[in-house]
Parts: sequence; structure tokens; C-alpha cells
Amino acid sequence: MISKLKKLSILLLPAIMQSQMVSAEVQGNDFIQVFEQLSGKHLGVRKGHAKGVCALGDFIPSQEAMPYSSSRLFSGQKIKANIRFSMAGGNPFADETARSPRGVGIQFSLPDGSIHNIAGLTTPVFPGKDPQTFLGLLKTLVPNEQGKVDFAKVSQYRQDHPSTQAQFNWLRTHNPPSSYSRAQYFGIHAFYFVDEAGHKTKFKWRLVPVAGELPLTSKQMEQLPPTFLADNLKQELITDSVQFELQAIIGHDDDVTDDPSLFWPKDRLIISLGLLTINQSGDSSCDEINYDPNVLSKGVEPSDDPVLKLRSTAYAISFGKRLSGN
Ligand code: HEM
Repeated sequence: MISKLKKLSILLLPAIMQSQMVSAEVQGNDFIQVFEQLSGKHLGVRKGHAKGVCALGDFIPSQEAMPYSSSRLFSGQKIKANIRFSMAGGNPFADETARSPRGVGIQFSLPDGSIHNIAGLTTPVFPGKDPQTFLGLLKTLVPNEQGKVDFAKVSQYRQDHPSTQAQFNWLRTHNPPSSYSRAQYFGIHAFYFVDEAGHKTKFKWRLVPVAGELPLTSKQMEQLPPTFLADNLKQELITDSVQFELQAIIGHDDDVTDDPSLFWPKDRLIISLGLLTINQSGDSSCDEINYDPNVLSKGVEPSDDPVLKLRSTAYAISFGKRLSGN
């Protein structure tokens, strides 16, 4: 018996070691370090999406999600929403005319006291099929001792890692938004709706501005100052609320769930999940929120996307640091 166990453990050892190596390969803290190398050390602020603005509103769910998910998010009641719009990257002074993603985080406070987070970008895809590929890309962007980025190295890395390419192409061909309220935001990862009977349906969410998308013109990109997005939103909210429709793109059985650099085919069924109405912005209501996208209400589950999985630790480290003034 003992020798049988010994044999089994010898057989399993390489697999166990390999799985530990893979998970030990890239850690949340590796990203915190590289963000700092890229953007400098900024105490007390988010280590990713450092520049942003808080907003408050509510969410009124549609009836369309009910057959798919038992989540109380879709039970029909109006739900309080804490929102934060942001610029990607760890620079709190990021240039808002730059061809980089904008982000949105929303924390829904459910009637039973639980919370449900979503956090997405203005690009439908992520620059890397897994955390390793994304981390490698970020490392090539770190300036050398003379403060210069080696762009030949960056483009070689992109060629060697084609999954970094789709987001780059998207950003090149879509001007950045003129306002946080006039952009479409994508959840990027796949998630699952789970109904009362435990039946699962894969989906990706997106947030569509009711007023329509309005990108900056090329002239505006040259002429605008580096900071205008928070002011624009505040101005807009003086006269009216800002609205977005939250939608779900329903996946087919063969649609991939573990690669955020790929988008599903365009012909997938899209359902409305409800209407988000924003009424005010510019306070500190989101400062102490961690929009960890794996904090979900019962009735919605994360997929096997390795990038989605890694986000929780990176966000927790950043959250701990910034709340303690680091
Ligand atoms: C390996 C992949 C990623 C890493 C390491 C990472 C890391 C981070 C970190 C450290 C923060 C700051 C968190 C805080 O202090 O509260 C952050 C914020 C954010 N990230 Fe990511 N992220 C990753 C992928 C993504 C993806 C795939 C998306 C979109 C689907 C995304 C969207 C956002 C947004 C919108 C915020 C701002 C949330 C807020 O306003 O607090 N991130 N990220």
C-alpha cells in the first residue's frame, strides 16, 4: 500500500510542481511593480487606473435577464450604483487625449445587502491572452536608464505574441471618447449567468451610452488640455442625468471563455440587462471601493479566464497600499 502511494506521488510530482510553477510564474504583485516602473510611485492612489472620477446613480433592471440568472441584481428593484470612470494606467496625471483605454467600475448594492461589481474598458479585447503575455508586454514598455522606450523591442514582442495585437489595432482605429458619458465600455471576460435550477449561460457584458458614442476629432486630440473628462461629466450632469444601457452578449457553446484577447462573433444574441442612470459626480464616494470583478452576486459566476482570476489579487494589493497611504 505504502509503495503504491509512493509510486503515485512520484508520478504526480511533476504535474504538481508544474502547476505550482505556472501559478508562481506571474503574481498580482508583479503587475504592481511594473505599473510603478512605468508610471512612477504615487502614494495613496490606485496603482492601475490612477486617474478617475467618482459618480453616483442607480440601476433599474429589465425583465430580460430573469430567465437566465437568479441574481437579485435582476429582481426588478431599483439598485444603488457607485461608479468610477478612469484612465488606464498608473499615472494620476494621464493625458486624456491619449489613445489608451478608459475604464468604468460599477458597484451595485443589492437589496439583500450584498454587492456585485463590474469593471470594464472602452476596448472589447485585452492586450494578451493570459497574465504572462500582458506582463511581458508591459515589461517591454518600461523605459531604459536613459528614459527611452525601445519601440523596436515592443513591436518585436507584439509580433511574437499576436494576442497583444487586437487591442492595439482597436485603439489605433478608434479615437478616444469626448466624454466618459459618450463611450461604450466592455466587460471583456466571459461570465456565466446561473438560473434557479443551476443551468449556466455564458455571456459578456457591455455598457452602451444612451446618447450614443462621441469620439474626439483628430483636431480635438491635438488641441484639448490633458484634463477635461471629469469636468465635462460634471457639466453634463448640471442639466440632465447621464444614462447607459447594460447589455449581455449571449455566447454559443463553442465561444471561448478563457482568452480575453478574442471577441465573440458579431451575430450573437444581445439582451438588455437594465438602465444605469447617473445623477452626480466628482465626490469621494468611490475612493474606498475596490471594484474587484470577481465579487459577484449569487446567480452570476466568473469564467475560467486566467486574466480575470489574477485581477483579484492585484486589486487587493493596490487597495491595501492606497488605503494605507502607500
Ligand atoms: C492582469 C490583468 C490586470 C491587472 C494586473 C490589473 C490591475 C489593476 C489594478 C492594480 C487596479 C487598481 C485597483 C484598485 O486600487 O482598486 C486596476 C483598476 C482597474 N482595472 Fe485592471 N487590471 C487587469 C486587467 C483588467 C481588465 C481585463 C480590465 C477590464 C475588463 C480592467 C479594468 C480596470 C478598471 C476599470 C479599473 C479601475 C477600477 C476603479 O475605478 O477602481 N483591468 N486594475
